[in-house]
Amino acid sequence: MAPALVESLREPSTLLDHRPSKALFPDGIKTSGQQNPNYDQIQPYSAFPKEIVGETVWKAEDYVDRPEQWVHRFNEREIGELSKAADAFLASGTPLTGIMQEKFPLPTMQPYLISMRNELLNGKGFILFKGFPVEKWGNHKSAVAYMGLGTYLGYFVSQNGLGHVLGHVKDTGADPTQIDKVRIYRTTARQFFHADDCDIVGLLCIARSLEGGESDIVSTHHVFNTLQREHPEVVETLTQPNWYFDRKGEISEGQEPYTRQPVFYKETGADGRVYAKWDPYYVKSLTRFSDAGIIPPLSPAQAHAAQVLEDTCLRLALHMILEIGDIQFLSNAHVLHARTAYKDYPPPAPQRHLMRLWLATPETEGGWKLPFSDSAHKKRGGVQVNDTPPRALLDAE
Ligand SMILES: [Fe+2]
Repeated sequence: MAPALVESLREPSTLLDHRPSKALFPDGIKTSGQQNPNYDQIQPYSAFPKEIVGETVWKAEDYVDRPEQWVHRFNEREIGELSKAADAFLASGTPLTGIMQEKFPLPTMQPYLISMRNELLNGKGFILFKGFPVEKWGNHKSAVAYMGLGTYLGYFVSQNGLGHVLGHVKDTGADPTQIDKVRIYRTTARQFFHADDCDIVGLLCIARSLEGGESDIVSTHHVFNTLQREHPEVVETLTQPNWYFDRKGEISEGQEPYTRQPVFYKETGADGRVYAKWDPYYVKSLTRFSDAGIIPPLSPAQAHAAQVLEDTCLRLALHMILEIGDIQFLSNAHVLHARTAYKDYPPPAPQRHLMRLWLATPETEGGWKLPFSDSAHKKRGGVQVNDTPPRALLDAE
């Protein structure tokens, strides 16, 4: 790749100086959005460990028959506390986009949620809650209680160019073959292993599909170790910052239509941990630019690395099925996730519907230290287009 091209893709890091209007953003803080990394903080393959150890390295067989270690069924007292806080929030008339911990007190659950946040960030990186009474509460109260719970884990970031801070994973009839325009969460297609553009992702199941739509998760660090043993050349390819990721048309003024990044990163500072940013749909949808000679096409080594990564994730994954009232929270730093293709029930039965939260955990509040200019920004990551304000709708649009 020509050095000139690399330089042209640098973006000025003006973000932290941005102070959006409170009239648009309830707390005066804007989602920072997708960025290029600070290339001078990207570490070479030689700086990566041969093997990662610790709680973030887990195998499916460690958990498949031990749900008590990763499933928490809400008890009556917890549901009562969530219900009371949600009713008070609804009565206050505050819009959903203005929800924050102070407006959603959970005095007895708080210590548990603090330890769970730590477990997500620094431990195994996933949890499945059960027994959220979505059918009893309906979509509005469920959304309030879900977002209220989310305030104890991170800050809401916008998930798309429409400013959605409460996302809806649902088939909108969008065509999944139009991968340069369509985000797969709006279709019934399979989602290959990937990480979302935020620190923690939550999925609350409101309605299930007739078949499929099942969830797979894998420890990124277990995948990394396995690849280091079996395919070190693949890991080296994945550490090089020459992977282009499509913005799929969700572009702010002055931005390139894509970012350029490695797949495997290291945190900044001494003893930085390994983390991944990956989504094959976003990498493979850029032929409109590579065909025109604007960016290089995926090299044979990259195409091979993408396939080996997917195959390895699939081989090592922990499978789970989300039932109505289940909430899955995952770390995106060190867990990759996928879902199978699915088929909805015929109408008038409801379509499969998951409410999604994208949560940010800035490095100043215990989050991972990312080599990005927004690492300390409260609402780091996400997808932000210009000054689109946050919106929290109760269903897909
Ligand atoms: Fe995802």
